[in-house]
Amino acid sequence: MKVFIAGATGLLGKRVVKRLVEQGHKVVGLARSGENMQLLRSMGAEARVGGLFNRQQMIEVTEGCEAILHLATKIPAKLTASPAAWAENNRIRTEGADILTDAAIYHKAKLYLQQSILFIYGDQQGKVLDNHTPLPARQPSFLRSAIEMENIVNRKTGDWGLPGLILRFAAFYGPDSGQTQEMIRAVRRGKLPIVGKGDYYHNLIHLDDAASAVVFAVNRHEKLTGQTHNLSDFNPAPFAEVVEYLAAITRSKKPGRIPHWLARLLLGREVVGILTNSCQNRANTLDGWAPAYPSYREGYGQIVSLMEEP
Ligand SMILES: NC(=O)c1ccc[n+]([C@@H]2O[C@H](COP(=O)([O-])OP(=O)(O)OC[C@H]3O[C@@H](n4cnc5c(N)ncnc54)[C@H](OP(=O)(O)O)[C@@H]3O)[C@@H](O)[C@H]2O)c1
Repeated sequence: MKVFIAGATGLLGKRVVKRLVEQGHKVVGLARSGENMQLLRSMGAEARVGGLFNRQQMIEVTEGCEAILHLATKIPAKLTASPAAWAENNRIRTEGADILTDAAIYHKAKLYLQQSILFIYGDQQGKVLDNHTPLPARQPSFLRSAIEMENIVNRKTGDWGLPGLILRFAAFYGPDSGQTQEMIRAVRRGKLPIVGKGDYYHNLIHLDDAASAVVFAVNRHEKLTGQTHNLSDFNPAPFAEVVEYLAAITRSKKPGRIPHWLARLLLGREVVGILTNSCQNRANTLDGWAPAYPSYREGYGQIVSLMEEP
């Protein structure tokens, strides 16, 4: 299949490109710099240049593609980023999805795959998610665009026959993720405090597994369009357990704790809400797919051993 990817040069996108090319798919990646054109070509993909917010250009760069994957994001590096720092990510999710879904409809694509985020379940008080778990009506400011994005995909799937598929991912982690590296550095320095008891469930997915799920979905698209799936390693664990495990395998001292009120003062209410929201994604609805890293133990074990290699 000829697959167009917006976000082909990102942490998830690069892994997806590599796997699709290995499996014999033709991959077209959106490139926004000469360096990324080279990168995509070196991975065996075709690079096409265009602006995600330019409707005409997106129609042109997706020409001849049977699947369109929207994997682009621009998540601010700092947790405490101002609302303005989220503006590009919001635009990528909303305007980007609107434009790419139109391109998929225009070209009569067989699949439009949208990366979304499990955090939109908010705080379910530790409950296990199922197909009927409702999303909270109120969302933090930086997640409203994800809801709008999903609504765009679902509306066009219903009204215009878009072959839409939404994959809601748990928190990504991986050896090349700046966020993961920063977390491990903070644990090593004893600077990653656990908020409150740390008993809130943390849902994770290794970036390699997120990529394998996307490729699985591309290969099974005929059965999956019109659906939404939650993707994680299906072994969520209390946050304190994850951080204490990280401290143990990095031979760091036991992480400290800070009360909720102090965390809210330092990080803001919305960020602390995101960090301490609790839900458990235990059921694998993507029948036939399985993560290679079934829990944080295998995943962080791999990452720490890679970081410690001489
Ligand atoms: N589920 C999750 O937990 C989750 C989801 C998303 C991101 N993250 C994490 O957040 C951190 C920051 O990542 P990131 O969001 O910057 O992702 P990233 O993995 O660095 O990649 C983002 C991709 O989106 C593309 N992109 C960004 N802005 C674009 C725009 N305006 N138009 C078209 N394409 C655009 C980038 O292209 P260029 O290479 O041209 O910039 C790149 O291909 C990473 O650690 C990532 O893993 C986590």
